[in-house]
Amino acid sequence: MKKILITGGSGFIGTNFINFLSKKKVQILNIDKLSLISTKEKFKKIYFKKNYTFIKYDLKDPYNIYSILKKYNPHFIINFAAESHVDRSITDPIYFIKNNIMTSTNLFYAFSMMNNKNKIKFFHISTDEVYGSIKKGSFKEKNSYNPSSPYSASKGSTDLIAESFNKTYNTNIKILNLTNNYGPYQFPEKFIPTLIFHFLKNKAAPLYGNGKNFREWMHVSDSCEAIWEIMKLNKKFDRMNIGTEKRYSNIEILKIVFNLMKSKNLTKLSNSNYLKKVKDRPGHDLRYALNSKLFKNYTKYKMKINLVSGLNQTINWYIENKNWLKETRKKYHYKRLGLYD
Ligand SMILES: NC(=O)c1ccc[n+]([C@@H]2O[C@H](COP(=O)([O-])OP(=O)(O)OC[C@H]3O[C@@H](n4cnc5c(N)ncnc54)[C@H](O)[C@@H]3O)[C@@H](O)[C@H]2O)c1
Repeated sequence: MKKILITGGSGFIGTNFINFLSKKKVQILNIDKLSLISTKEKFKKIYFKKNYTFIKYDLKDPYNIYSILKKYNPHFIINFAAESHVDRSITDPIYFIKNNIMTSTNLFYAFSMMNNKNKIKFFHISTDEVYGSIKKGSFKEKNSYNPSSPYSASKGSTDLIAESFNKTYNTNIKILNLTNNYGPYQFPEKFIPTLIFHFLKNKAAPLYGNGKNFREWMHVSDSCEAIWEIMKLNKKFDRMNIGTEKRYSNIEILKIVFNLMKSKNLTKLSNSNYLKKVKDRPGHDLRYALNSKLFKNYTKYKMKINLVSGLNQTINWYIENKNWLKETRKKYHYKRLGLYD
């Protein structure tokens, strides 16, 4: 049975990925420090199963990580571990830079010490945000990074460190640049859950600036399938972009979520009072766009969930999963973050 080590497996994508893997014949070890936004173990479908192990651990010491790696001896490593909220990174840049850069570097260094590292497939999860904003067209994997926030700079830095380790220590860490994800288990302060909770409470949803920031939106279950397809590949590459190649402005997303919730009678708001423009995020990138041709050519994977049905499913999930929500909302303070003046 293949053994998969997942770091940051208690966050939004990691939790979904572990739930996705629970249907496969694999062994899983999840290492996560459990931060504010993490989903507790009791909510995982796989929690009580024999093929799943969880270690609560802050990835601070490369030698401890090396001991874990040596003992578990995985076939795959998938590194999701990072602080990931852009607004929080503006409020607390030092913490983000230290945590994100050191967490991944410790893991890379531990991995570099493994004698059998060439037999282990290591995927480091990155983001489209590292490329920065692009007015027209899309970024290819060979484009250089131009990040705008402390978060994206910390992610870009770890990607470059991974590439330097590949050259220096022969580690062959592959970077997967994912676009914006949405779906179950996403912490309420992210954009789509924020919309859902405001509408549920009959409050106008906040829209940063003029709302004309374009993003690709990928349902997290498509991300999980995409990563799984890539794990099965035997192809050479350094970075791989994974996106939908369909871009929507924030105001379009807000309107779709509002209309879906209105049609389900989940909000009393009307067309005249459902949005409130608020001060823009400093350094807010205008348009993210990934060229995902390499991913499509290599895997032949086609995204399964279109945006409207994915958003509809996501709204239903947040309404149906009251226990998760109750627990998570205790940690969420509905405070605007990321404004420094
Ligand atoms: N969510 C998105 O839209 C998106 C898009 C592209 C890329 N990514 C990247 O994918 C990864 C996962 O994203 P997410 O949205 O699930 O993030 P998340 O913030 O929901 O989860 C990250 C998890 O990593 C853990 N973690 C952080 N630092 C750690 C440390 N030092 N030791 C152990 N665990 C630690 C946290 O406790 C948390 O459970 C991140 O690296 C993020 O940059 C996310």
